[in-house]
Amino acid sequence: MADVVIIYDSRTGNTEKAAREVLAGVMESGASVDIKKVDEATVDDVRRAKGIILGSPNINDNYSAKMRSFVETKLVQAKPHEKVGAAFGTYKWNMDNLKRLENDLRWKGVRLVAEGINVHRHGDGEVAKKLRELGRKVGEEARKRSA
Ligand SMILES: Cc1cc2nc3c(=O)[nH]c(=O)nc-3n(C[C@H](O)[C@H](O)[C@H](O)COP(=O)(O)O)c2cc1C
Repeated sequence: MADVVIIYDSRTGNTEKAAREVLAGVMESGASVDIKKVDEATVDDVRRAKGIILGSPNINDNYSAKMRSFVETKLVQAKPHEKVGAAFGTYKWNMDNLKRLENDLRWKGVRLVAEGINVHRHGDGEVAKKLRELGRKVGEEARKRSA
């Protein structure tokens, strides 16, 4: 059982790369962590974790259809009230993906404990640091809840 689960969607690898930075940040916090592609993530992955971090590319001004389907079905089934979390994304032109994903997480009852990070495609060292910081914060909050 992991304190935190990171669930991401990625077609060409940019969001996956961001997810690896978030993973490194959660590990720095000392929390246990699982990382899953959205196709592989289960209701139980969410149910068992105290913290949930979702990541998606911007696809047509929104977060991806796969991630939207995950949020509306498995996330809701896992009853994520009382969980802490955060969101991240990648984009090329505009940043609506992150705003919408954060909004939907809030609506489903997740308490966002770190500011979301949207990475312009490949990002750089500075953004990598912010992604790790996001992971660390969620890890720390999740550990408090596991204690
Ligand atoms: C079908 C498609 C639609 C996209 N639509 C948008 C968009 O509306 N706005 C935007 O900023 N980027 C858009 N992008 C760019 C992706 O968000 C960006 O390249 C992202 O980093 C891809 O993430 P990935 O490598 O994890 O798949 C689109 C990419 C694809 C393939």
